[in-house]
Amino acid sequence: MKKPLTCIEDYRPPAWRMQTIALDFDLDVEQSWVSARLHVIQDPAQADVGLRLDGENVELLEIRLDGRVLASDEYRIEGALLFLDAVRGEAVIETRSRIRPADNKAMQGLYLSGGTEQGFLLSQCEAEGFRHITWSIDRPDVLARYTVTLRADRARFPVLLAGGNPDGAGELADGRHWARFVDPQPKPSYLFAIVAGRLAVIEDRHCTAEGRLVSLKIWAPAPLIARCRYALDCLKAAMLWDEQRFGRNYRLDVFHVVATDDFTMGAMENTGLNIFNSKYLLADPLHATDDDYRHVLAVVAHEYFHNWTGNRVTCRDWFQLCLKEGLTVYREQEFVSEQTSRTLRRIEDVRVLWRNQFSEDAGPLAHPVRPSQYSEINNFYTATVYEKGAEIVRMLATVLGRDGFRRGMDLYFDRHDGAAVTVEDFLAALGDANQRELSPWLAWYTQAGTPVLEAQGAFDAQTHCYTLELTQSFAPVATALPRQALPIPVALALFDAFGNRLKIERNGVAGDIDEAVILLDRPRMSLTFRHLDHAPIVSLLRGYSAPVRIAQRGDWADLVVLATHEDDGFNRWQAADGLIRHLFMAELQGDARGAPAFGAWMTGLRRAFDEADLDPATLAEMLTLADEITLGESLAEIDPPAIHAARSRLECSIAQALQTELLACYEQLAAASMAGAEPVAQGQRRLRNACLGLLCRADPQYHALALRHFDDAVCLSDKLAALTCLVHGQALAAQNALDTFAADYSTAATVMDRWFSVQATLPTANALERVRALTRHAAFRWDNPNKVYALLLAFALRNPVGFHREDGAGYEFIADSIRRIDRITPQVAARLTTAFAAWRRYPPTLRERMHAQLMRLQEAAAMSADVTDILARSLAHADEDGSLRP
Ligand code: PHE
Ligand code: ZN
Repeated sequence: MKKPLTCIEDYRPPAWRMQTIALDFDLDVEQSWVSARLHVIQDPAQADVGLRLDGENVELLEIRLDGRVLASDEYRIEGALLFLDAVRGEAVIETRSRIRPADNKAMQGLYLSGGTEQGFLLSQCEAEGFRHITWSIDRPDVLARYTVTLRADRARFPVLLAGGNPDGAGELADGRHWARFVDPQPKPSYLFAIVAGRLAVIEDRHCTAEGRLVSLKIWAPAPLIARCRYALDCLKAAMLWDEQRFGRNYRLDVFHVVATDDFTMGAMENTGLNIFNSKYLLADPLHATDDDYRHVLAVVAHEYFHNWTGNRVTCRDWFQLCLKEGLTVYREQEFVSEQTSRTLRRIEDVRVLWRNQFSEDAGPLAHPVRPSQYSEINNFYTATVYEKGAEIVRMLATVLGRDGFRRGMDLYFDRHDGAAVTVEDFLAALGDANQRELSPWLAWYTQAGTPVLEAQGAFDAQTHCYTLELTQSFAPVATALPRQALPIPVALALFDAFGNRLKIERNGVAGDIDEAVILLDRPRMSLTFRHLDHAPIVSLLRGYSAPVRIAQRGDWADLVVLATHEDDGFNRWQAADGLIRHLFMAELQGDARGAPAFGAWMTGLRRAFDEADLDPATLAEMLTLADEITLGESLAEIDPPAIHAARSRLECSIAQALQTELLACYEQLAAASMAGAEPVAQGQRRLRNACLGLLCRADPQYHALALRHFDDAVCLSDKLAALTCLVHGQALAAQNALDTFAADYSTAATVMDRWFSVQATLPTANALERVRALTRHAAFRWDNPNKVYALLLAFALRNPVGFHREDGAGYEFIADSIRRIDRITPQVAARLTTAFAAWRRYPPTLRERMHAQLMRLQEAAAMSADVTDILARSLAHADEDGSLRP
């Protein structure tokens, strides 16, 4: 099935708006009845446009216009639209319909989480799920006031929740009960939510800076509720932070959060009733790794921050998705940075950007942060919209400064609270509050592709001047259009050969400064730095000031200086990562150990172990090699076995060179494993587990250490790190450890996901057979998105050796899986399909085999709109050669 394209230039304001919507639900698992009462008003300027309602899989039982039942010839239903051509001006439309939650495996609209007997009902409406619940005008620029009444059997559905403030509840005949909720603030339909079933709760309160007492409640199936305390603390921290940092207060009396194991995404910001994939909500030491804790903190905050960036100020249309997502990711990043470690969070974000967004941007699925067209909007919840979207906001914040950015955000909220707006409105508010013209920044939102930054330096000993030529250019991408130069903030510092920071004196810039942020807003720019005795070492893009590729990373000796002395933690890591990439290239072409950079950098790393004030998490990151996808992404042709072999050899060489330090560090940090979830303990564990991982790469004798680590572990981080060492090191004890782990955690769904992933990513010759066998494991479920992601998506994206098997069997298996899953949850199938997108970049045999599977899927009958869209875009421009590559 193919959906027609929606294009940004075809946007028209709604001809009809809904002022209020009153919904009445009679809920049950197999079928639920929905009565909707819409008060609709026509835009006088579009008096000729008839009223149409959206609905899909909603069985219409009765429809009334201003109280009068309509005969079947007074309206018509065509596809997903209900036409009421004769209605003009203003009207009250009442519908009564039936929906079938238990049959709804696509998880859009109202569906069932858990079994028929014990499970609970919940809804998911972003982006276009509301039309699966009732007939209405389902678009984000139609904002209405919602009144929701829920009725159900009390024993089966003791808890009834909807977004907004509670407005009464009571008993009904026959053991049924009801509850009503009113949301005072008009909202778009995608933020509507309800939940009903048997759920346990934990509660707390928060008093906002404006003095409102808000009741906070987290709901989960009873066995999981004890693991929700951390999330509740995170929520309180996020509420406080948004008040202090952005002056934003929560304005409802209640804030509910619900955990489910059945969710296609991370979490959803429904007004007053957030719904979470349990992997981003549950956290206790035995069931969550340190990374899980960090993700819970991040996602709880993210969804809460949407309350202002997304909900109160919402998107005019789905092209503006980045308006809420990029901005909210940025706010989340700032929050987590301030609560934990800025350097670590920045490294994590940039790793994700390089791995996921750069590769997306270089392939056939490339799209601008604000796309100009889409066929299936579900496929645009991408790294580009989220991560690159956040980077754009970050650049604006850098250029405006902390206070200027805050002024801009204040104006944005003042102007647009309660409205559905665009990226242009956002830029205008930031600009107007700072007397700056920000329209050139729009190009960041409208042009796909990763910009390339080149820096060429020349030193003149006579004049003591250093000239730096900065150039921006673009790699060709599928959607190439005429390019406009982008405003690129380049933060830089200068160092001498001993790692001392040099004062920056630029021509025409008075005074001494240490760091400069240069706005490269044209194709080329030349800077002169004065009063220098030698050519300086330039540390470019400090804090990763712009989401660009650096054309060449400079001399390795300079990188060693920066990786040893940079006092910007992120750029210190960036230099270390540059060295790893340099050594990886050397290994790919021969032997890295022979390269002069190898010895020099090992000496540097050895010293780093002794540095008292080096943050353990940063050191851990310096020891963690870029993954195979990221390394492959920077090559013209991706040859998975060659990349895997070179990376493994390099990792082994590094581990052997540092064996003494790794072991000493591992032992010295023994006490850390006992400590709790605070950032310091997390950092120490991260470093200790990185050491263990490398030791096991250096010599299988350390498997004994890993086994002890496994047995002694008191938290999941340690347990899982040890398990990974044993399994990926193919230790004798591996199978036994896997079995013990599975026995211990058989009832903990999110932990079993990790167990599947450890095995799915094991790069051995029989990886495919193992994964295939695991699909038959009792804990695996084809209809559970988390399980599919943990096993199949992990195999396709994080096991290059297994997936890209020479004979194409990995491709065939994943293509078969896509067909199977597409009949259940198309959104999940579409995500799996993206694993084929970069097919043109592989060597000829692999390329042909990937292409063959894409064609097979394209020819298959009855594929969803979601998968069809990914296939069509992946296969577009099939005549072009690999020149899509940078
Ligand atoms: N809006 C959610 C978020 O990023 C993501 C999401 C999109 C969830 C679509 C469900 C469906 O916070
Ligand atoms: Zn979001």
